[in-house]
Amino acid sequence: MNRRVTDLAVETSGLVKIFGDTRAVDGLDLTVPAGTVYGVLGPNGAGKTTAVRMLATLLRPDGGQARVFGHDVVREADAVRSRVSLTGQYASVDEDLTGTENLVLLARLLGHRKPAARDRAGLLLEAFGLSEAAERQVKTYSGGMRRRLDIAASILSTPDLLFLDEPTTGLDPRSRSQVWDIVRAVVAHGTTVLLTTQYLDEADRLAGRIAVIDHGRVIAEGTPGELKSSIGTGTVHLRLRDPAQRPEAQRVLTRALGVPAHAEADPVAVTARVSGTGSEYGAAEEASRVLAELAAAGIVVDDFSLGQPSLDEVFLALTDRPAEPAATEEAAA
Ligand SMILES: Nc1ncnc2c1ncn2[C@@H]1O[C@H](COP(=O)(O)OP(=O)(O)OP(=O)(O)O)[C@@H](O)[C@H]1O
Ligand SMILES: [Mg+2]
Repeated sequence: MNRRVTDLAVETSGLVKIFGDTRAVDGLDLTVPAGTVYGVLGPNGAGKTTAVRMLATLLRPDGGQARVFGHDVVREADAVRSRVSLTGQYASVDEDLTGTENLVLLARLLGHRKPAARDRAGLLLEAFGLSEAAERQVKTYSGGMRRRLDIAASILSTPDLLFLDEPTTGLDPRSRSQVWDIVRAVVAHGTTVLLTTQYLDEADRLAGRIAVIDHGRVIAEGTPGELKSSIGTGTVHLRLRDPAQRPEAQRVLTRALGVPAHAEADPVAVTARVSGTGSEYGAAEEASRVLAELAAAGIVVDDFSLGQPSLDEVFLALTDRPAEPAATEEAAA
């Protein structure tokens, strides 16, 4: 097989999907190298699920092209299907079955004999921390447990490409980090992962490259580092002892960072974006310089944090508007 082709897990050009008046995917160009986690970051209604469903051959494109490991998703759908697995945004496991029953059933459908299916199910349940819950009906599981079971189901037979569609939306921090560990383990075994998410921090932690999509198109693409340096590395949040010092604090911040500092609703709170480009050592160094300047100006800071930009801030920086859900999504909600 041609090496150039197999090095790419996904290659789309001008991919389009139209639902009625909605161009859900509108000229999507994606290039996903094999063997990595690729993050697709976008707000509600950006077209993430629609794009993934076309790549997994569940939806037929209305225009453009998409290849998975060199195979066209329309003309060579069987070849694509044999190499991919999809964990949907909406879990696909059966509520009335136990964890074990679900995995054994799916393994049997994949052609494993019963003893092998039971072995595989047991191994995965243990690896995903679900051994104790294995004989309980899935309807008694927490959201995090269900999500883990769903990912386990999608890697019963090791796919070459795994689609994870918002695997951590709605999970608590502990469950999120468990899912992240699973994703890392899956990639370490050689599977390429295409992960959709609404969280920049998630894409940042897991993905080698990220595409930011909006209205069905890529509006920015690069490594997490490239993306963050193009949008500002983070935001400093300050709480002052004395609200009367806030105007002076804003002046110091604006001078030190070269961007406007915002007064929040809370009378002692101030925030400002930190680019990290003003310093060889990045955002943390720039933030600590700001703290020193505030102290020198006699401003008392009670609380300080440096956070990653949120998806909203990414969108503000890239599009000059916040990450609003698509109109049809709002209507549906
Ligand atoms: N089957 C469908 N019929 C009609 N419109 C659809 C259908 N599926 C998706 N859409 C519309 O296409 C657009 C993209 O939807 P999609 O589900 O791909 O977004 P998403 O990025 O996955 O959003 P979310 O983060 O909410 O999951 C939305 O405007 C949505 O309402
Ligand atoms: Mg979706």
